[in-house]
Amino acid sequence: MSGTRKKQSSPASVLVIFGASGDLTHRKILPALANVIERKELEENFVVVGIARTEWSDEDFRKAVLEAVPHAGARFRTAVERFRYISGEYDHPDTFDQLKAILADVDKTTTCPGHWTYYLATVPEVFGLVAGALAKHELNRPSTPDGSIRLVIEKPFGRDLASATKLDAELHESFSEDQIYRIDHYMGKETVQNLLALRFANAIFEPVWNRRYVDHIQITVAESLGVEHRGGFYEHAGAMRDILQNHMMQILALTLMEPPAVVDAQGIRDEKVKLLNAIPIPTPDEVLVHAARGQYGSGVIDGEPVPSYKSEDGVSPGSTTETYAAMRLTVDNWRWAGVPVYLRTGKRLAKRVTEVAMQFQRVPHLPFSDSLSRELLPNVLVLRIQPEEGITLLFGAKVPGQAFEVRSVSMDFGYRQAFGAPPREAYERLLLDALIGDPTLFIRTDEVDQAWRIVDPVLSVWSENGSPLYPYPAGSWGPKEADQLLAQDNHAWRTP
Ligand code: BG6
Repeated sequence: MSGTRKKQSSPASVLVIFGASGDLTHRKILPALANVIERKELEENFVVVGIARTEWSDEDFRKAVLEAVPHAGARFRTAVERFRYISGEYDHPDTFDQLKAILADVDKTTTCPGHWTYYLATVPEVFGLVAGALAKHELNRPSTPDGSIRLVIEKPFGRDLASATKLDAELHESFSEDQIYRIDHYMGKETVQNLLALRFANAIFEPVWNRRYVDHIQITVAESLGVEHRGGFYEHAGAMRDILQNHMMQILALTLMEPPAVVDAQGIRDEKVKLLNAIPIPTPDEVLVHAARGQYGSGVIDGEPVPSYKSEDGVSPGSTTETYAAMRLTVDNWRWAGVPVYLRTGKRLAKRVTEVAMQFQRVPHLPFSDSLSRELLPNVLVLRIQPEEGITLLFGAKVPGQAFEVRSVSMDFGYRQAFGAPPREAYERLLLDALIGDPTLFIRTDEVDQAWRIVDPVLSVWSENGSPLYPYPAGSWGPKEADQLLAQDNHAWRTP
């Protein structure tokens, strides 16, 4: 979403989806693609080639596509008739020979030959394998002088810094960094992008966006859902790897980074990396006081009883996987030195809410009596990312009446009220950007590394036997031990 880019049509002519019969394709990629096609944002003869091990014919694939998008419009239905399918193994040359033949075929009918995008909607274990096979079949290079090839991958990008570096080394053997589009779907959310508009399209916020005015910052990604049918996956991930290392680090970087000269791929990503690089990594002793983890027990959500994490499908009864993670960070630069940033995320918390709350310092002197200002809180600017997308400013006001009583009130801005329509799905935005070739919202390799650098020491302490894992009841705001991270600075978690 380069700041200079307007609405644009895609030059990509083919989207090749590896893992075409899988859950991600069905739930996210195809519905997003259908909307993009309906809006005429792709070229007329655009083709999808699905690849998976499932033994399907072209017809079976087309049927499955329409099942994934039951309300598809006429444009998408017509496009689906051109969709192709290859049933094959990711480590077998036949699969790639067939792909090569189909791509050559499509190139004859399209207005932009040689523009191919590969989406690896597979388990990460095969990313390197598929990338290598594409290169071996010379499918990592455009077939025309002005063609372009892109490789889209989804998190997790490794389990730690070492495995992330290894994965990148494998991918870089076959694709250059500017061909690799790493998706973090939070970057596709309108309200996350709006952090940039709020900060850099307004004169009034930036002057106070620093240590002189900000007391502390709280970033929350709370989910009321449990692990649903993903227990097996989650057992190996946990809240830190699933959310904090990626989605939360992105939100944090956009909120605190310096203004880029231009909102484009290099401008934004350079600033995010600089910001992440300024976060000191905790020592093992610091981890014990600056990080906390928990696991949900049974409880009640929206009036319904829900089971404990340990009794979810695919979860070991003795599991020590964290479903809640919290951390206290600082940013060692001129703008933020000494301002604590608290991050927390968890499953089965009291409600679904993602927000950034920036609490400002108290006024230097309050000229009202204590008894009349008891209900006055410091100013807080809350950037509500979901579900009630908007911005709230908490400020002091006089209560009507004879006495000069002051208390906090809030001023609200809501996206839906202001713009009418609900924001677009994150995947639509990101899919279209990948097909167009705009990498601004995708994660560069050095951002991934920086995020692992910060969380690795915490994960390493947590992996030790006997490291505390605090229970919390489903439907609460997490383990009470996590309150300590803030209490040591005389702060408390907000109740959103
Ligand atoms: C995914 C995680 O990346 O993000 C899930 O793997 C989580 O565990 C999801 O539920 C949350 O995304 P959203 O867009 O619903 O906030």
